[in-house]
Amino acid sequence: MGVEEIRVRAARTEEVDELLDLWARAGENASRPPDRPDLVQRLLEHDPGAVLVAVAGGRLVGSVVAGWDGWRANLYRLAVEPDRRGRGVARLLVAAAERRLTALGAERLCAMVLDDNDPARGLWSALGYAPQGEWRRWVREVPEGDGGAGATPA
Ligand SMILES: CC(C)(COP(=O)(O)OP(=O)(O)OC[C@H]1O[C@@H](n2cnc3c(N)ncnc32)[C@H](O)[C@@H]1OP(=O)(O)O)[C@@H](O)C(=O)NCCC(=O)NCCS
Repeated sequence: MGVEEIRVRAARTEEVDELLDLWARAGENASRPPDRPDLVQRLLEHDPGAVLVAVAGGRLVGSVVAGWDGWRANLYRLAVEPDRRGRGVARLLVAAAERRLTALGAERLCAMVLDDNDPARGLWSALGYAPQGEWRRWVREVPEGDGGAGATPA
C-alpha cells in the first residue's frame, strides 16, 4: 500500500486506546512511565489538534504529537507501524505537524530524539533538524500529592 492512500488528521478522543496500542507496537523504546489512557484523553481535550495520526484503511498507522504552548513547539511520539516504515509516512506526519506549528506562530521546532536511536536520527536529520549538544533534558518526577517545587513548605 502506498503513501498516497494515507491520510493525516488530528486524533479523535475515541481513538485513545488505538493510539496507545500503536505506541506499544511502534513507539520508541524509551524508559518512561507507562502510558495511561486518561492522560492521552486529557491532552486531546486540552489541545484537540496536538496529536496527529496517519490513517490507512481505517486504521492508525502512525502518529506524532505536535505540542504548542504559546512559546515552544515540541514534536514527540513520532511512530510508524513497523510494516509501513520506509514509505514516507513519517515525512507526511512531520510535514503536517510543521504546518500546524508554524501556523500557530512557531519559529523553531524541537524534536525529542534518543541519542542511540539511529533511525530517528536519520529521519530528523533528513528533515533538517540537528542536535543541540549543549542541552540535556532535566527531569523531576512529581510524587503523587506533591504540589511541585514551588509548593508552600508545610
Ligand atoms: C523513525 C521512524 C518514525 C521513521 O518512519 P518512516 O515512516 O519509516 O520514515 P520515512 O519513510 O518517512 O523516512 C523519511 C526519511 O527519514 C530517513 N530515515 C527513515 N528511516 C530511517 C532509518 N531506519 N535509518 C536512517 N534513516 C532513516 C530517510 O532519510 C528517509 O528518507 P528516504 O526514504 O527518502 O531515504 C520509524 O522508524 C519508527 O516509527 N521508529 C520507531 C519509533 C521511533 O523511534 N520514533 C522516533 C522518535 S524521535
